[in-house]
Amino acid sequence: MSTNLEAYWMPFTANRQFKANPRLLAAAKDMHYTSHDNRQILDGTAGLWCVNAGHCRPKIVEAIQKQVAHLDYAPPFQMGHPLAFELAERLIKMIPGNHFDRVFYGNSGSEAVESALKIAIAYHRVRGEASRVRLIGRERGYHGVGFGGISVGGIATNRKFFGSLLPGVDHLPHTHNLEHNAFSHGQPEWGAHLADELERIVTLHDASTIAAVIVEPVAGSTGVLVPPVGYLEKLRAICDKYGILLIFDEVITGFGRLGTSFATEYFGILPDMITVAKGITNGTVPMGAVFTRKGIYDAFMESTPENAIELFHGYTYSGHPLACAAALATLDVYEEEGLFQHAQELAGYWENAIHSLKDLPHVIDIRNLGLVAGIELASRPGKPGARGMECLESCYETGLLIRTTGDIIALSPPLIIQKEHIDQIVEILAGVLQKLI
Ligand SMILES: Cc1ncc(COP(=O)(O)O)c(C=O)c1O
Repeated sequence: MSTNLEAYWMPFTANRQFKANPRLLAAAKDMHYTSHDNRQILDGTAGLWCVNAGHCRPKIVEAIQKQVAHLDYAPPFQMGHPLAFELAERLIKMIPGNHFDRVFYGNSGSEAVESALKIAIAYHRVRGEASRVRLIGRERGYHGVGFGGISVGGIATNRKFFGSLLPGVDHLPHTHNLEHNAFSHGQPEWGAHLADELERIVTLHDASTIAAVIVEPVAGSTGVLVPPVGYLEKLRAICDKYGILLIFDEVITGFGRLGTSFATEYFGILPDMITVAKGITNGTVPMGAVFTRKGIYDAFMESTPENAIELFHGYTYSGHPLACAAALATLDVYEEEGLFQHAQELAGYWENAIHSLKDLPHVIDIRNLGLVAGIELASRPGKPGARGMECLESCYETGLLIRTTGDIIALSPPLIIQKEHIDQIVEILAGVLQKLI
C-alpha cells in the first residue's frame, strides 16, 4: 500500500498490529463496504452500530450536499437555524406517550452523555436539591469517553489510565451471568433482582445525594448484555421511589435497533432522559442528542429570569446544519422504508440463525434482541482477546465485518438487511469458527 499510515494515532486500536496488516475501507454501498484491495465486505455491524439505513443512501447524501451549499454553519448560542428546531420536534414525536418535550444537541454519544449527566445535576440544583450530585452507572456499562462517561461507565481499561475520574460515582452490578443465562433467546429470565442493588446504594449514600442512574437498556459495547426480564422495570420503580432521574443511554438501541424507534418503546419503560447519537444521522455527520421528559426544561425556565441563560452548557457544533439535514433525511428513510418494522419482522429469523452457531467450537454463549447479537467465545488461556481478534481478522478476509470486544463478537447489521445476508453472516462465521484455534 502506498499510503503512509504512521501519522494517524488511531482510536481504540492496536496501532502497530493494524499498521502491519491494515484493513482500509475504500467505499460503501447499502449492505457492503469495498475494501482497499477491492473486495466486497458484508457489513455485519452497521459501521460502528450507526449506519442503520445502510450505506450511502441517496436521499441522505443529497440532503447533506444541498445543505452544505445552502447554509454551511450557524452559531447555536443566542442564534438558531430552522432545521435544528424542525428536527427536535420530529425526534420528540418519535416516542409514543407525549412524555419527552425537549432535545439538547451535541456531536457524539459521549457529548450526549456528558450533557445528560450535567443536566441531571443542574436540574436538581435549580429545583433546590443541590445535594443531589451523585451519579450511578453500572459495571460493564459504556457511555463514551468523556470524564463523566468513563466515570459512570464500568470498563476498567477505559478508566484506569485516567486518574481519579469524577467523584461521587457508584456502580450497579452488571447483569451478565453465564451460569444462569447462557444461550438465552431474547431477554434472560434470571437477574431482575440485581436491580435491587440500587436500594443498597441508596441506603449507603442516601437518596438526597443521588442525582441520576444511567444505564444502556441493552449494553452494547461490552458484548451485548440483554436486560433480564423485569430488571429495567425495577430500576424505574426504585428511581421513582427516591426521586432519582433515570437516564437510558440509547446511543446503540435508538433508531430501530430493537425493531422499535427506541428501547424505551420496546420495553415500555419511560426514563427521564434518553441519550442518542449514531443512527440519528445514519452515521453520516456526527451528532448526538439528549431527550428530556416534561418538567426538566421547565424547571430551568422557572428558576431563571427570562433574559438569562438557563443552562451554561453547549457546543460550537450543537445542532450543526449538516447534521440536522442528515438527520431529517435519515428519519425520512427510516419512515418511508419502514425499516424499524422490517427489523422487527426479521428479528425472529435473526435469532434462530444466530443461535444455530451454538455448537461450534469455542462458543460459550449466544445472546440476541432485535437485530443485535453477541457471541461469546472462550478465551485462550492467558491470552484474553486473542481469539476474538483472530476471528475478526478471518471474517474480514472472508468478506464479513464483525466487531469484537475481547472474545465477544457483536453483530448489529444495517436494518435494510435481508434474509440472504443473515444466512451469509452465519455461513461465514461458522466457517471461521470451525477453523479458529
Ligand atoms: C451506549 C453508548 N453510549 C455512548 C457512546 C459513545 O458514543 P461516541 O463514540 O459517539 O462518543 C457509545 C458508543 O459506542 C455507546 O455505545
